[in-house]
Amino acid sequence: MYLQINNRKCRSLNGQWGFFADNMGAFGLKRSRNVFEGLNPCEDDRALEYDVDAFDTISVPGDWNTQQKEYFLFEGFGWYAKRLELSESERESIAKGERLFLRLDGVNYGVDVWWNGELIASEECPFLPLSFELKSEQLQSSNLLVIRVDARRMEHRIPAERYDWFNYGGLIRGVRLVRMPTQFIAQAAYHSTEIIELNEAGAVVNGKYTVVCDGASEASSFELELSISELAYQQRIDLSSTETVLSLDGLKVRLWEPGQPQLYAAQLTLYRDGQIVDSIDQKIGFKQIEVDGTQVLLNRKPLYLKGTAYHEERLGKEGGKPRNLDDVRELIDLAEELGSNFLRLAHYPYDESWLAECDARGLLVWDEIPVYWEITYEDARTQKIIQDSATRMVEVSRGHACILCHAMANETWELPGRKEAMTLAYKAFKQLDPSTPVTAAFNAPFRDGCYDVESVDHSIYEYMDVVGLNEYGGWYNPPLAELKNANVIVGSKPLFITEFGAAGPMDTSGPDDKLWNLDSQKAIYESQIAMFERCEGLSGFTPWVVKDFRSTLRANGFQKGWNRKGLVDPEGNKKPVFETVRQAFSQR
Ligand code: GCU
Repeated sequence: MYLQINNRKCRSLNGQWGFFADNMGAFGLKRSRNVFEGLNPCEDDRALEYDVDAFDTISVPGDWNTQQKEYFLFEGFGWYAKRLELSESERESIAKGERLFLRLDGVNYGVDVWWNGELIASEECPFLPLSFELKSEQLQSSNLLVIRVDARRMEHRIPAERYDWFNYGGLIRGVRLVRMPTQFIAQAAYHSTEIIELNEAGAVVNGKYTVVCDGASEASSFELELSISELAYQQRIDLSSTETVLSLDGLKVRLWEPGQPQLYAAQLTLYRDGQIVDSIDQKIGFKQIEVDGTQVLLNRKPLYLKGTAYHEERLGKEGGKPRNLDDVRELIDLAEELGSNFLRLAHYPYDESWLAECDARGLLVWDEIPVYWEITYEDARTQKIIQDSATRMVEVSRGHACILCHAMANETWELPGRKEAMTLAYKAFKQLDPSTPVTAAFNAPFRDGCYDVESVDHSIYEYMDVVGLNEYGGWYNPPLAELKNANVIVGSKPLFITEFGAAGPMDTSGPDDKLWNLDSQKAIYESQIAMFERCEGLSGFTPWVVKDFRSTLRANGFQKGWNRKGLVDPEGNKKPVFETVRQAFSQR
């Protein structure tokens, strides 16, 4: 179940946790190594090979790789342990019917969770929030929570074993306990705005509000009320099932769009027999994305995307996963400095804080499930991860005003089972968020002086509402000289550049036609941007990538374990090409 947090008070479990790096996967298989039992070797008459109270400590949230040197390239099983006190009143309230959930905001990769020695969950749904209910009978005054994070790269996973970013493992996002009333609103998302009329004051719109409640049994009568006070809007309906879709008709609103990130406070209240049992507050925005031929329209106006592409890696010479909201804001500030109106959050789902920030700043967002390069589509485990990730990602993002499109893949090709597996993702996207365009990023061969995505058959192409093209003219192929007259073919669907660029290691200079220096990086950008200007009907472009990022695929002397295609270096120092992009965006 996706447990949305909204404005709920939670008990944060962030901070220092006991940690043990189990590179052989030897623990948890027999008594002497059953970390989750939390036994004390000093008090046991049989040898125990672990002691959670003597483990080193590590910070949560955070990847383990950048916290201690010996964990830098560790890709095994990380055991986390934390002892938790629950007060008498807390346990009593759960015994009386309140609910208690353990929520992991995001892990890389697989996770097994034990509560007081009992296995309560096993999941393979990376980078997305996971919640597990704790029953009253499982609660004691002193409890032991043990979480094993499995960060191995594996063939059946998405991504599989080889990918161009760093495998930061662990509890990379927050951990919390969430108390809920017996019946509560698990998730709510406003979506599917339809503009009925545009006028001076804004627009008249219709829309949908999907609300999922938990615990509401037939025994009582439940009602759901939506109020948007700034619009003097109120609607109250009888609840007939766990999931309800409220129709909102004829609202007079100011639309949300870049440069005008208009948000409204919405309150949802759940009543049982006329009594309030739960209530949440959300910020919602009204915008409509449409596809008209090869154009993308935002609020009925043609949209040109000025993109900034990311990895979820914080600024600083060590890199690592963002540890707090400031880390996230620093990264998003770069897009605003560039004059960008769109963020490509590549290649996996990011922490929910990114979406809330982009709602408030008026930045459109592309979110993406990590179906990247080679995938074992026919493997049932892979299909499950694809479907679960697609479902959860859209449950998380569909209610955010900033969402432009949901991406199902990056640079994948025809392999057995691809269509069937990707149909699972497509159906999840459309079933949960019918009005948001589906997309993916494709490569295209450079032939006869141009790039044409539609020159290659892709069984998933029919699912695309909007198409992304990754091309590296001047860097991988073709050489810079051939870019001067090159072009990009816009086929039957809206197309925009989701990646282009070149490496520019900081503090290097040299001839434009010689790779691996800041001058040639700039020259390639100038040629690329000129090509985009020549391309009729292109819907925008996105440099790859805003910041140099760690990747063990990058081993030459210029790279030293970093992909150096950033517009800024790991610490955020701007390269000359940053200004090139900023100016190009300012002209649009
Ligand atoms: C690919 C891929 C990126 C990668 C980039 C590069 O297009 O999508 O993940 O980092 O190329 O080669 O730098």
